[in-house]
Amino acid sequence: MSLPYPRASEWIGDESGYVRLLDQTLLPTEVAFRDCRMVEEIWEAIRSLRVRGAPAIGIAAAMGVVLGVQGQDGRERGAYAARLREVAGYLRTSRPTAVNLFWALDRMTQTAQPHLDKLPAVELTQLLWREALAIEQEDRGMCMAIGRVGAELVQPDSGILTHCNAGGLATADYGTALSVMFTAAEQGKRIHVFADETRPLLQGARLTAWELQQRGIDVTLICDSMAGQVMREGKVQLVIVGADRIAANGDTANKIGTYSVAVLAKAHGIPFYVAAPSSTFDLTLPDGSAIPIEQRDAREVTHGLGKQIAPSGVRVYNPAFDVTPAGLISGIITERGLIQPVDGESIRRMVG
Ligand code: MRU
Repeated sequence: MSLPYPRASEWIGDESGYVRLLDQTLLPTEVAFRDCRMVEEIWEAIRSLRVRGAPAIGIAAAMGVVLGVQGQDGRERGAYAARLREVAGYLRTSRPTAVNLFWALDRMTQTAQPHLDKLPAVELTQLLWREALAIEQEDRGMCMAIGRVGAELVQPDSGILTHCNAGGLATADYGTALSVMFTAAEQGKRIHVFADETRPLLQGARLTAWELQQRGIDVTLICDSMAGQVMREGKVQLVIVGADRIAANGDTANKIGTYSVAVLAKAHGIPFYVAAPSSTFDLTLPDGSAIPIEQRDAREVTHGLGKQIAPSGVRVYNPAFDVTPAGLISGIITERGLIQPVDGESIRRMVG
């Protein structure tokens, strides 16, 4: 059940090939690709959200590592190891919050590590290339499994609210929160999705509404500020969102505005679920207070719709993510099963 639109990123050719990204900054009005042949282009694409969403960032970064080590063949082994360290360190600076980025980069360096003194450069690059493709392939499988686990929570004729984009565009395919909706719909359950537009960069309006339309899922776009009213009108029976990093106690960082949605869901007695693969858990952090929150350019707020919408010189605060406390989360849908209740012990048991 592959999605009826291009993947967020695709490796073209063999280990000497390149990365083709769907430029998500141009959606929904333009479906255009960007071919990246240098690690710097991947860094820029991650930073500027041409590729975005936690798992998709990890996949793009893994592919970026391969681009970064290409052409090292004539150099001695110490130089290859140094270049690998340099490339991974550089990609780590592209965005701070989604732990999948660091997870994928660690996995790439750990894959090469035991072989650095033994294999010639050309074989090391092949090894890294195969690992990047494996990360992508595994993510696809995890997303499908999340869909199967989560669909059991969906009652027929449900209204489901989501925030930001946790769909195929944010992963290798299918998505996390949206995978649950796609699977429920495939099972013949009638669902109606409310997509928060997700200010300031409108991932909900530009990406989620588009993805759901492409798949023929009934979707209504709302401004973020309308979520409370829509819940009060009884139109929402379930909230499902994605995640960028989940701490050991279940506190969850996701797109700014997610916390407000969780509070609203609590106030209206609506279950609030997070859907995320095991690669989104960061068990080194005891709770959400240590999750680094990305701060982005003020112009995203003052010039968000392509024209100036705020007075020149006004002070702006623009955190890209917030943290929803575990106590507001009804359950976490992972590829290994449902984590419920959301606490340190259940999390350790499922993904530790
Ligand atoms: O800034 P973005 O667009 O990368 O933020 C994306 C989100 O917050 C998603 O909800 C999250 O990464 C989960 S994607 C399956």
